Amino acid sequence: MCGIVAYVGHRQAYPLLIKGLKRLEYRGYDSAGVALLNADGLKVFKKKGKVAELENELKAREPLATIGMGHTRWATHGEPNDKNAHPHYSSNSKLAIIHNGIIENFATIKKNLQKKGYEFRSDTDSEVLIQFIEDIQKETGATLEETVRLALHEVVGAYAIVIMTEDDPTQLIAARKGSPLVIGIGEEEFFFASDATPIIEYTKEVVYLDDLQIAVVRNGELTLQNLDKTTQIPYIQKVEMELEAIEKGGYEHFMLKEIFEQPRSIADSMRGRLNAEDALLELGGLRGYMDKLADAKRIVIVGCGTSWHAGLVAEYIFEELARIPVEVEYASEFRYRNPIIKEKDIVIAISQSGETADTLAALELAKSKGATILGVCNVVGSSIARITHAGAYTHAGPEIGVASTKAFTAQVTVLTLMAIAVAKKRKTISEDLYRQLLIEIDTIPAKVERVLKASEKIKEIAYIFTYARNFIYLGRGLNFPVALEGALKLKEISYIHAEGYPAAEMKHGPIALIDEDMPVVVVATKDSSYDKVVSNIQEVKARKGRVIAVVTEGEKQLHELVDFVIEIPKTHEILVPLLSSIPLQLLAYYIAVMRGRNVDQPRNLAKSVTVE
Ligand code: AGP
Ligand code: GLU
Repeated sequence: MCGIVAYVGHRQAYPLLIKGLKRLEYRGYDSAGVALLNADGLKVFKKKGKVAELENELKAREPLATIGMGHTRWATHGEPNDKNAHPHYSSNSKLAIIHNGIIENFATIKKNLQKKGYEFRSDTDSEVLIQFIEDIQKETGATLEETVRLALHEVVGAYAIVIMTEDDPTQLIAARKGSPLVIGIGEEEFFFASDATPIIEYTKEVVYLDDLQIAVVRNGELTLQNLDKTTQIPYIQKVEMELEAIEKGGYEHFMLKEIFEQPRSIADSMRGRLNAEDALLELGGLRGYMDKLADAKRIVIVGCGTSWHAGLVAEYIFEELARIPVEVEYASEFRYRNPIIKEKDIVIAISQSGETADTLAALELAKSKGATILGVCNVVGSSIARITHAGAYTHAGPEIGVASTKAFTAQVTVLTLMAIAVAKKRKTISEDLYRQLLIEIDTIPAKVERVLKASEKIKEIAYIFTYARNFIYLGRGLNFPVALEGALKLKEISYIHAEGYPAAEMKHGPIALIDEDMPVVVVATKDSSYDKVVSNIQEVKARKGRVIAVVTEGEKQLHELVDFVIEIPKTHEILVPLLSSIPLQLLAYYIAVMRGRNVDQPRNLAKSVTVE
């Protein structure tokens, strides 16, 4: 987690850093700080709270400097307060560091430094690293670049770091292992950032730093080396992202904007891949891997949170259409349990950010065991996208709200396209069904548009349940992961306790929770398990539970039975999650807003979890 931004060039660094930090704030937001170097020396300003609080504090004395760096933190070591905020100085205050990640062996290094008389101003692992660098510099008299290299050889853990020194106002040193870092290359200016959003306004030319690489900018020149000192030629790429994509565009929150973007983001995730009229479907990123996919003995899907839910939806679809056994695992569990992986297994990682540490580690493990690893990521050039053999981007555009919405529906769309393509290749679906599915999935963006028209009604329902203390979400089949996702959305942004369950499981325990104070959201669309779900709703109503049902347009029976109804258009059963998940996103959103929560940056969370 945490956002890093640094600049050296001809512009004023401070306003640029503050703006950059605000763009990165979705990554962490418990404290923020900047370091700037000018004729007065290397100065650090930092503060607990949001970037705006730091900005407020510095209003009267906007520091002037053309080199600087900033950090917005998501604490792992040491509580969020002023002293633990980054940047951190070394003892002699000549060096400063910003760090994203965890230095796992910080305690041992710290103890050794303390024995030598070093004192620490914070509780962080990050400060230990900069003190360690100062110590090596003192001991060896080596250049800063060399010292950083020596220090990083000793470090266990994950990091993206940027280091400044008072001795050279033209120099920034950066390195990464496990946490992302992008370098922006402008006209006689350079940027470092956790993602491209703080950079694109100034330049579209970027270099993605690889693991175990050190980048040094000095006197207007960039050099890249591996930790073992081999020089690397920077591979400059163009980022496609436009500025509007990362601004709120009139919406109150990014989350609402992203929910309403779904007709477009779903269409974008299919663009260039699907031609329904001519029954053509091809995922370019998987070219060369379709035979392997069609031949797979087993598919293992790994992911975390919402991406894991998208994996559960994909499990139903792949098994139903392509008849390949699928297992879906939390990446964090998979990586630590010596999983059985065979060569003919395909491991698919799902990740919006492409940087989730557990997912990345799960993939590395699968790769080392000989599996073919594929990625379904949203962020282009992200770590997962780069280590996988092949993959398909979701192309949902930047997702800034911490609660994932449009990334989920884009993931489900891409995975559905993959399943249809594999099923066609394996001949496990008829030509007729194949065509029908392509035509139907092509209509989904327009149908999502219709679902969004229910937003006012959903707002009214949200108003009634604003102060509920618990929620249960139920669904069967493909709507079971939708129920899980609905519950996750509600808990993460409203802080209401919510649980998702397969509707039939309710009678094995959770039914004990049902009374007139328990709102139950049931996804009860007209599909193969509809009648069974109606029975489950009866069971809830018999115990005075209050039911909000997501139903298919034209459905009559449930209007009588339940308390509130939200309608979605009819579609093919396997495509239902693309529609049924949307009212649940809106319900969570409006409840959280009515409770006065910080919807885009909920407490304790961060958008991209780059620590274990
Ligand atoms: C979703 O709303 C969450 N904030 C979270 O569960 C997220 O889906 C998870 O951390 C995985 O992230 P990724 O898709 O970037 O890998
Ligand atoms: N481990 C560091 C800290 O707790 C960095 C955390 C981050 O990535 O924000 O300060």
